[in-house]
Amino acid sequence: MDNRAIGFFDSGLGGLTSVQELHEKLPNEKVLYFGDTARTPYGSKSESTIKEFATQIVDYLVSKNCKMIIIACNTVTALCLDSLRERYPDIPILGVIEPTVKKVVADGCRKVGVIATKATIGSDVYGKSIRKLSPETEVSSLACPALVPLIEEGFVEGEIMELTVRHYMDDFVRESGFDNLVLGCTHYPLLIKTFDKLYPGIKLYSSSAEVINEAAEILKDKAMMAGPNDYQDRYYASDLSDNFITMTELLFRDRDSRISLKKLGE
Ligand code: DGL
Repeated sequence: MDNRAIGFFDSGLGGLTSVQELHEKLPNEKVLYFGDTARTPYGSKSESTIKEFATQIVDYLVSKNCKMIIIACNTVTALCLDSLRERYPDIPILGVIEPTVKKVVADGCRKVGVIATKATIGSDVYGKSIRKLSPETEVSSLACPALVPLIEEGFVEGEIMELTVRHYMDDFVRESGFDNLVLGCTHYPLLIKTFDKLYPGIKLYSSSAEVINEAAEILKDKAMMAGPNDYQDRYYASDLSDNFITMTELLFRDRDSRISLKKLGE
């Protein structure tokens, strides 16, 4: 049994969607979350900048004695998973992409759309990984760089978000003809209602969800599952935006959670 927290991080509030999955599946596990709200979005930044930010955050989570780290961000997973694992070989560090790819392939999807940030799409990590496991699967990808900033500003439902989603998706859906869509950014599961309303025939795959099944397997194998404990979750943000606070309180109102400002390097 291991009651230390699991460390999660993202460029902002997107990774909270992965924490939601954790609470549903493994309610005993305690969370230490870091959202880099002062520097969001990551997805349009250079690889070296994203690596620098991600390394600072993982150093911080390790200094807080987390038993496992979940990179609740596709952009960081795409660009930094290997280097972070090399830096901390003794701590399980999980990314969100591989578990999502495995699920898509296990479900036998033949035509798959992927939407994500510019950096994730630029890396073609989804395309390469899906084709490696299932060469006959057709993968079409599209970067949607305006979605994360809008979500960070609280535009999750309503006319502005619907117009923005349609701006990216209408032609993409028509031209690519897929019936499965990977939400390849952990912010996007907050838009599931909007996607279901606009494109009801398309099956959605959330990149926030599958990693939690992988986490459960590893914790079980290593006998590191948490038992009953004081359950206080900690949420840190590098800038305490109203929306980060509102979203955290809304999603986790049934848990004992504390939200604090944390500037890295202080
Ligand atoms: N949630 C992050 C992801 O999964 C968003 C990255 C960004 O800040 O652009 O890619």
